[in-house]
Order: sequence, then structure tokens, then C-alpha cells
Amino acid sequence: MRTPPYLPFLDGPPGIAPGLKPIAPEAWLLPDTEAAAWLAPKRELMRSRRSDVFAAHEADAEMTEAATIVLAATGPAVGEWSTPLEAASAMVSDDLCIMVRDAEGLWRLKAASLCTPTYWSLAEKFGKPLGGLHAPVPGGDPGLAARISRIFDGLRPGLVLERCNWSVQPGDERFTPSSAPLKARAHAMQEADALDQLHLRVERQTIRKLPQTGALLFTIRIVIDPLSAGLSTPRHVEAFAAAWQGVDPAMHRYKGWAAYDRLVGAALDARRNPVTSEGSTNTRQDK
Ligand code: HEM
Repeated sequence: MRTPPYLPFLDGPPGIAPGLKPIAPEAWLLPDTEAAAWLAPKRELMRSRRSDVFAAHEADAEMTEAATIVLAATGPAVGEWSTPLEAASAMVSDDLCIMVRDAEGLWRLKAASLCTPTYWSLAEKFGKPLGGLHAPVPGGDPGLAARISRIFDGLRPGLVLERCNWSVQPGDERFTPSSAPLKARAHAMQEADALDQLHLRVERQTIRKLPQTGALLFTIRIVIDPLSAGLSTPRHVEAFAAAWQGVDPAMHRYKGWAAYDRLVGAALDARRNPVTSEGSTNTRQDK
């Protein structure tokens, strides 16, 4: 089992602080690891359900500029695609969203290739400004939206910023416009299966300003690993427990974590008190 590349729970409970950090431009869209193998099903989804995962309105120049910058990182596009944004998206695990500043100064979602929504749909959010996009998030509108807007306004082209959201889910699906099927699966799951079947879902996002059009390119990469891989040492187990239990109640509600509390508790118990095949408690754990 690989070590998950991002372990954001080590930084504490999820909150709404933007938490954006600059990264080296060379680390922007690194190839995904073999383990993810998302590119083939992503391309299939882009063709079979195009109207669910792609939308664009009056953003041709922005899409062309975004595609140029992505393809500079990945190498030339492969296959026939209807728009430059889709051609670029087909080359990376990441989703590509373009935000354009309108005449009133509001940043709006004007084009997107979105195959890994964390429980939202393009149909419901397309064209909205940052406030509308974040309306369900506690403190999202206007507080968070105003902070993000200021960051977008001031972002210097060339700078790449990164942040992560995270949660758990029972299974490794990436195309998840709704959380309802996952919650139903969690409800039916035995506690004894929790450690094996829960997964850590990390949403790694980046932003960068496009120098010619001034649009903002927002990328989303979903990274899914078995939760057990994230809980590989006692330090990780305790950090995860502290982050899970320390979350603000409004954020707990927003993220729907009540559906997973029982299973996360069982997974943590199983990690803290592993039982050997002979049935005795094994006190040794990996470091
Ligand atoms: C880079 C600045 C941004 C920050 C700091 C930020 C922050 C957040 C946070 C904290 C959440 C709650 C998610 C969670 O923890 O589970 C969220 C959700 C979300 N964000 Fe952002 N966001 C940013 C940019 C964007 C952009 C550019 C888009 C445009 C597509 C976007 C679309 C959304 C959507 C659709 C949700 C889910 C809202 C829902 O539940 O309906 N965000 N964002």
C-alpha cells in the first residue's frame, strides 16, 4: 500500500481559512501515480457524459490560454476533443475550472471540465460567482468568498498556490456529484469493515492567474487512498482522531460527517487495538 501523497489532517481539523501556500511551478501538475489510474475512466466520462462534466460560456480565449499552459506542463494533447479545455483536461487527473472577473468585479465560473466534484454538480453551480459557489459552506458567503476574491484580484501571474480539503468516504469513487449513495453505503456498513473500506478523500486544489486574459485557472485533483494507509503510525492515528473530533460543529454538519462518525470511531479503535489472527491484541504497530 502506498503512502498517501497528501495528509492534510496532520494540520488539524478542516476549517475555512484559505490556507493557500505557494508551490514551485514545476510541481503544479505532476503526473499522477500509477495507483490512481484515473485518466482512462476520466476520458471515458468526458465522452459518455459530456453535458454533466463540461460547460463553457463566452470563455474561448480563456480556455485556449488555460489549455496552452496545461499542455506546456504535460506535452501535446492526445485524441480529438471539441474544445481546448477538454483536450487539456484529458491529459491530467486534475479538473480544470476557469473563473472570469465580470464588470462588477465578481469572479464567476465560466468554463469547467469537472469529473471529480465533491458532492456538487456543474449544472447547479455554473456561471455563479464565488459567493454563490460557496453559499452552503459555513461562513462561505460573504466571508470566505470575499477573502478568495481579494486573493484572486491580487494574484501575480507565475505564482502557483495550493491548498487541500479532505474527508472520508466508503469506497474510491471520484465522480461523486451527490454524497447520498456514499452515505447510504456507510449506513449499511459493518463496523468491523470500517478500517478496510473507508477511504481518505483529499481534494488538492491549485490556483494561478492566466497572464493574457487575466482569468483564474483553478485545478482540482482528487486523491483517494485507503484510510488505513493514512493511519500508518500511532502519530498519524492520533492526529487523525484529533482532527476528526476537533472540527467545528457547523463544519461537521456541512461535511455530513455524522454519517461517518460510527465508522471512523471503529477504524480508529481497530488501529489502536489491532487484533492478531490468533485473536490476541497486537501491541506492535508500524512506525
Ligand atoms: C482558492 C480559493 C478557494 C478556497 C480557499 C475555497 C474554500 C472552500 C472550502 C473551505 C470549501 C468547503 C469544502 C470542505 O472543506 O469540504 C469549499 C467548497 C466549495 N468550493 Fe471552494 N474554495 C476556493 C475556490 C473555489 C473555486 C475557484 C471554485 C469554483 C469552482 C470553488 C467551488 C467550490 C464548491 C462548488 C464547493 C462546494 C460547495 C457546496 O457544498 O455546495 N471554490 N471551498
